[in-house]
Amino acid sequence: MTEYVSTQGYKGTRDFYPEDKRFLNWLKTKIDHVMRLYCFEEYDGPFLEPIELYLSKTSEEIVNQQLYSFRDKGDRHVAIRPEMTPTLARMIAKVHQTLVKPIRWYSMPTCMRYERPQRGRLREFIQLNVDLFGGNPKDEDLEILQIILSLMKSFGAQKEHYEVKISHRALLDFFLLKYVVLDKSHIPSVVRLLDKKDKISLEVFKEEAEKLGLETKAIDYLLMFLDKDLNSLCADLLKDSPDALYLKEILETLKSLDPHAPIEFSSSIVRGFDYYTGLVFEVFDRNPDNRRALFGGGRYDNLIASFGSEPLSGIGFGMGDVTFHHFLEGHHLIPSLAAKVPVSVIRFGEEDRVKALRLCQRLRDDLGLFVEAPLSLQKFGKQIQHAQKRNATCVAFIAQEDGEDGFTLKWLETGVQEHIKFDSNEYKNLSQRF
Ligand code: HAM
Repeated sequence: MTEYVSTQGYKGTRDFYPEDKRFLNWLKTKIDHVMRLYCFEEYDGPFLEPIELYLSKTSEEIVNQQLYSFRDKGDRHVAIRPEMTPTLARMIAKVHQTLVKPIRWYSMPTCMRYERPQRGRLREFIQLNVDLFGGNPKDEDLEILQIILSLMKSFGAQKEHYEVKISHRALLDFFLLKYVVLDKSHIPSVVRLLDKKDKISLEVFKEEAEKLGLETKAIDYLLMFLDKDLNSLCADLLKDSPDALYLKEILETLKSLDPHAPIEFSSSIVRGFDYYTGLVFEVFDRNPDNRRALFGGGRYDNLIASFGSEPLSGIGFGMGDVTFHHFLEGHHLIPSLAAKVPVSVIRFGEEDRVKALRLCQRLRDDLGLFVEAPLSLQKFGKQIQHAQKRNATCVAFIAQEDGEDGFTLKWLETGVQEHIKFDSNEYKNLSQRF
């Protein structure tokens, strides 16, 4: 018996059918436009990197649980990129001394993480990366947050649809050192616990905190911290933190540019990556059906220097296509993206193949029209039906009365038929009618 191969792809990956590519192309075109408005340039890097790049530079969770890694035929240990930041840092470290600053770069790589596929999280996803280096940190932080707001606006998102939550790693370190941990070396494990706080119950959170050696008082401080807004923290627990004032200033500046910008401080934002050192942020959909973050990012001061290069601070974010698609869908922000065929050329028999192909070629070459050539020899009515199914604007064909120097155009919406000569003004101006 024949054994058929399954049509099911690898778990957590997607097949991109033409309608899916239409969405992605639309998304990319809009993103490209916003990035050009901010004078960013596009870059790209390899899908595969030596594993060492990730061992020291990405999060512990990614390295231990989510990295796709294997030995190549030359016994080199390599990994598929789970994120773009280590590759970007490597690329920047290699050349930044020769580059004009500030460096504004973006990319839309495919990444892979061995995660449990669920709503909003897959194993293979596309992630917009926007990063900025070599400017004044405060201006950079503001620009990165402004870009997020502009991107959301460009997709028609309203302030009720989403929220940008910001915090600061140094502020968190300050708080943890003052109230929660005994020394700096305990900070990363507490940060990782805080990062998953929303995914676990309060009991589990307390249990895990105890396992990290935190006393009841320290855990109470943590919970108190998570409960407060920036003003009350500044008046109380974070009174002497310069970073709390910094965040206030960032928020005030952004609100003075747009008083309705949906951006706030949130102590729950910690980010799971160890490389963040300053401002950190995430963007969330307010739609409760789409709970995973849309964007995540922050400032990283030491990543570039870790390649032995001159230090250079960077800030950036990643935005995944999966949750962003759910976001746009949930708020009805995706326009109709049906494929359109402006002109469908039809023919009637074996003998008019060359004439029909010549007509296709002329319409493409002379007028730059998008033309579908006939691949079947069905009756006129059937071909019209086919053109309608393909969403064609009109069909073109050479009728007997057209002779050698013209053709007939039938507009499908109105049914109006026109005879057009190649040397007429009507022909020259035809493309303006689509
Ligand atoms: P991240 O928070 O791991 O950050 O990812 C950023 C965004 O990528 C998430 O908010 C989500 O939209 C998307 N994403 C992540 N994992 C998955 C997944 N398994 N399936 C679908 N979407 C996913 C980073 O990756 C940082 N490197 C971002 C960054 C750039 N920081 C500075 N520059």
